[in-house]
Amino acid sequence: MNYKICLLAGDGIGPEVIASAKDVLSALPPQWDFVESGIGFGEYQRSGSPLPDSTLQAIRHTEATLFGAVTTPPNIPNYFSPVVRMRQSLDLFANLRPCKSIPHESSKANIDLIIVRENTEGLYSGIERVEDDGNKAITERVVTFAGSERIIRKAFEIAKQTKRKSVHVVHKANVLRQTCGLFRTVAFEVAKEYPEIDLLEMLVDTCAMELIRAPEQFEVIVTTNLFGDILSDEACMFVGGLGVAASGNIGANAAVFEPVHGSAPPLVGTGKANPIATFLAASMMLDYLNETESANRLRTAVESCIAHKETTPDLGGNLTTSEVTEKVKVRMMNAE
Ligand code: NAI
Ligand code: MG
Repeated sequence: MNYKICLLAGDGIGPEVIASAKDVLSALPPQWDFVESGIGFGEYQRSGSPLPDSTLQAIRHTEATLFGAVTTPPNIPNYFSPVVRMRQSLDLFANLRPCKSIPHESSKANIDLIIVRENTEGLYSGIERVEDDGNKAITERVVTFAGSERIIRKAFEIAKQTKRKSVHVVHKANVLRQTCGLFRTVAFEVAKEYPEIDLLEMLVDTCAMELIRAPEQFEVIVTTNLFGDILSDEACMFVGGLGVAASGNIGANAAVFEPVHGSAPPLVGTGKANPIATFLAASMMLDYLNETESANRLRTAVESCIAHKETTPDLGGNLTTSEVTEKVKVRMMNAE
């Protein structure tokens, strides 16, 4: 089987970490055909758009996409966030953020949870207005039955596939009675189809606290857009932080995987960009493609490098981006 993969390097350290990931993927089965496409500020300077139609087409016409990072420039009229636009245009409704312990002193032990965030509606629906001569600003929060159902079903399917036993639906239905109320009701409806998995509920403020107190209690968290945005950034700090945090944006017809970090302009060309977050994003992509063995081999090699301090300086090591890449490849080969 030949997979066609779209690579979106983007700006800053994006091209460096994507080049590393391409290198590592090329060393793994099956066969890969890479298609490279433009995104971000550099692309805007070249073509006049930070997300040209040709890039959206490339994402649609490949099996999966691996994206680096983009730089958001200071106030340019008509500029738009290509990341938000990409999620909307391709209806990438599920944002997945795994948080798994790594063998490193900055990581707490025994954590293996995944946050499943609704990625298209809620407070990020983009319906905002100003009234009363600018003295009153309003943002509408939109939660639909269909939008809730598909994200909650996704969370249960992930729990089932990964043999997890519980899903937490996180909401604030005691105050946001309509929007969170609907989300919560749909969760209990969908849960009936999965009798082997427990549906637990938690208020979002309690969840923020519990994630710090006892993160190992969570297996899958499913929640609305804004809550998921905040909780997933919070949770990644217990398991190594930005240098290792990866995410996936999944839709019915397209999927984009990316490191959580940005373009880190000061690191460009220094060799200090940690490629591991992008490797873990690539391993999520392999899981999505059902290339489970390659996914596990990549993840195991990365964990082994971390355990042996074969890392960039942000994780306490003294290797460069390309040296870490070589070490991961060697460890993958030795696992054959
Ligand atoms: P950032 O994630 O680029 O950097 C935050 C801190 O983490 C910096 O100290 C940086 O050196 C460090 N860091 C980030 N990635 C690293 C890596 N792979 N290895 C080692 N250290 C790493 O966030 P910042 O500085 O707030 O934003 C820089 C640019 O990135 C901005 O233009 C911002 O808009 C953009 N951005 C893009 C994102 C995306 O493309 N998805 C996400 C977040 C920010
Ligand atoms: Mg965020």
